[in-house]
Amino acid sequence: DTRDPTSLRTPIVAVLGHVDHGKTSLLDKIRGSAVIEGEAGAITQHIGATAVPLDVVSSIAGDLVNPDDFDLPGLLFIDTPGHHSFTTLRSRGGALADIAILVVDVNDGFQPQTLEALDILKRSQTPFIVAANKIDTVPGWNANEDTPINATYESQTDRVTSRLDESLYKIIGNLSDEGFSADLYWRVQNFQRNVGVVPVSAMTGEGVPDLLAVMMGLSQRYMKEEMEIDVQGPGVGTVLEVKEEKGFGTTVDIVLYDGTIRADDTIVVGGQNDPIVTDVRALLQPRPLAEIRTESRFEQVDEVGAAAGIKVAAPDLGDAMAGAPVRVVRNRDVETVETEVQAE
Ligand code: GTP
Ligand code: MG
Repeated sequence: DTRDPTSLRTPIVAVLGHVDHGKTSLLDKIRGSAVIEGEAGAITQHIGATAVPLDVVSSIAGDLVNPDDFDLPGLLFIDTPGHHSFTTLRSRGGALADIAILVVDVNDGFQPQTLEALDILKRSQTPFIVAANKIDTVPGWNANEDTPINATYESQTDRVTSRLDESLYKIIGNLSDEGFSADLYWRVQNFQRNVGVVPVSAMTGEGVPDLLAVMMGLSQRYMKEEMEIDVQGPGVGTVLEVKEEKGFGTTVDIVLYDGTIRADDTIVVGGQNDPIVTDVRALLQPRPLAEIRTESRFEQVDEVGAAAGIKVAAPDLGDAMAGAPVRVVRNRDVETVETEVQAE
């Protein structure tokens, strides 16, 4: 591992919001793949993790993100399902996140799971921005694919922009009712004190450069101020899913949020009864820009650093549970780590 030990780790960005408001489409737009087409009934059943390296963020955001201005390696997005029955998955994703994007359909406005997501963000004190999605559906909209918001605003008629503004101010009002001081993102000075609202379209990509630029700015500040992370220490993570994988038996998909995990590490995983102590057999890395839950071809790696989504193959994972903690033992007493895992 050649990373600078003082470097910032990849921020974890949760994408939350009501069902069908466009969370997966937004990530899909960002990663330029078609995960959405493989989804049963267009409902996201599981949390997935998507790593977007800094150079990709910058190539999508154009002039709005200069890679030289950032020490961050990129962003790790966690998609969550909006359907009302998936509260646990949403709070798991929300609690793991450093920062979040709350996706709200501009036409639909605030809905039950929007409020539930806000509550999760409030409780976990996660800084967030609001993506006011589907601006392309405003009647009379003139789409300008993948452009920043000011460029596309300029090419709309007054009638169209005033309709959009009306919907945006309604969202700002809803946020205010919930105790958040919010404004259109270009009027926000301090994104940790005020919630920025970014108009976007996951369909046309309009406003996506702005969204990424705001996320990068917010995470850089947040990671510098809040994170004191030993990026080289023994890894700490959370199990997202327990899965059978052909040729590997039972595996766990984890989000590693601190330290590193190596292919020769002993790990402790929270189980249905006692913590499971086991030796890593393989670390299976989805390719960059791939979605961990749909990627079937993995690359075996020797070491991974936080933050990352990684599949871990190891014996005896049959009793592992989604949501359980994972800790790397490395040069420590197994009993000490077992106690840590039990305490979580
Ligand atoms: P769940 O995972 O079920 O909670 O939904 P989701 O928030 O991930 O929504 P998804 O991305 O699956 O989008 C729902 C529907 O809205 C799909 O038919 C998308 O094509 C459509 N959609 C999403 N974003 C946009 C947008 O910006 N414009 C338009 N016109 N349609 C959109
Ligand atoms: Mg989805």
